[in-house]
Amino acid sequence: MRRATEHPLSVAPMMDRTNRHYRAFARTLTRRTLLYTEMVTTGAILFGDHKRHLAFDTSENPLVLQLGGDEPEALARCARLAEELGYDEINLNVGCPSDRVQRGNFGVCLMGQPELVAKCVAAMREAVKVPVSVKHRIGFDDKDNYEDMLHFVDVVSQSGCDRFTVHARKAWLQGLSPKQNRNIPPLRYEDVHRLKRERPELLIEINGGITDLSTVQKELKHSDGVMVGRAAWDNPWMLARVDTLLYGAEADPAKTRHDAVRAHLPYIERMLDVGERLHHLTRPMLLIFAGQPGGKKWRRHLSEHGHASEAGLQTLLDALALVPETLRQSAA
Ligand SMILES: Cc1cc2nc3c(=O)[nH]c(=O)nc-3n(C[C@H](O)[C@H](O)[C@H](O)COP(=O)(O)O)c2cc1C
Repeated sequence: MRRATEHPLSVAPMMDRTNRHYRAFARTLTRRTLLYTEMVTTGAILFGDHKRHLAFDTSENPLVLQLGGDEPEALARCARLAEELGYDEINLNVGCPSDRVQRGNFGVCLMGQPELVAKCVAAMREAVKVPVSVKHRIGFDDKDNYEDMLHFVDVVSQSGCDRFTVHARKAWLQGLSPKQNRNIPPLRYEDVHRLKRERPELLIEINGGITDLSTVQKELKHSDGVMVGRAAWDNPWMLARVDTLLYGAEADPAKTRHDAVRAHLPYIERMLDVGERLHHLTRPMLLIFAGQPGGKKWRRHLSEHGHASEAGLQTLLDALALVPETLRQSAA
């Protein structure tokens, strides 16, 4: 039960969202939650600028690299590189239904090729000491019975993989966009709960549609961990009580949303110094005051002024000054 005690919560891999700037900001809210990179393909790492694709700040650990690919040798090389760089875990994407990913024969279509996934996992496990895990769905197309998923998990776990994150909805390979595939197929948590009951020796993390910490706590009665995706982007403040509530820490890193923003200023300054653009840096913070007085002004100011070539730390401080710092702001 390693992950049950180590990581009751994780923030999902999300392309164009959980980049290093999001993750660094998330660390002002929670030091303990397991964070994931966006999916990075083996091709991007082996034939592209791997330093850029894999760069992160050590404040982001514990951190999982999610890989997209279907070639055992290539995945093993990427896993080795990632371990050397300090990633804490390697995860294989077996959940993405996008056309591009299907054309590459990875993502969710690998659920139909459990033996190949087992080979990929075995090659990565051979190459690294850190854990190797798989993120998948409950099924795809007409392969969507509980028994189909169980077969997939059983074959893959024979490679030694004992950590599975299950997005509790199936995917349709044709006819739905990735976004629709995150919303239209119904959630079937019971399939994930049953998987944990029937394979208690495996670490099973549930994912899909979970938006608040009380649901996380309820779900932890049935699974070893909970992965939250969109909610952690739409309302990053939901992470602010995780360390004390779920990890038993004595204190959370930020008492108020303002604290979180202020704690992030040195990172922003450092990134501006190396040429990053302000609007990239502030995008993960736009929703930190969502639903709060002044929250819209904060967002508008950053959206309107953050793109300017002279935009810098003062732009951010000006936006912050538009949000009243009251005691109410500190409430979750
Ligand atoms: C914008 C966006 C990008 C995503 N990119 C990835 C990805 O790179 N790899 C992956 O396994 N899942 C990806 N997902 C799916 C999420 O990891 C998660 O499984 C899904 O959003 C369901 O969880 P949620 O309901 O808590 O958001 C993405 C989701 C969103 C919204």
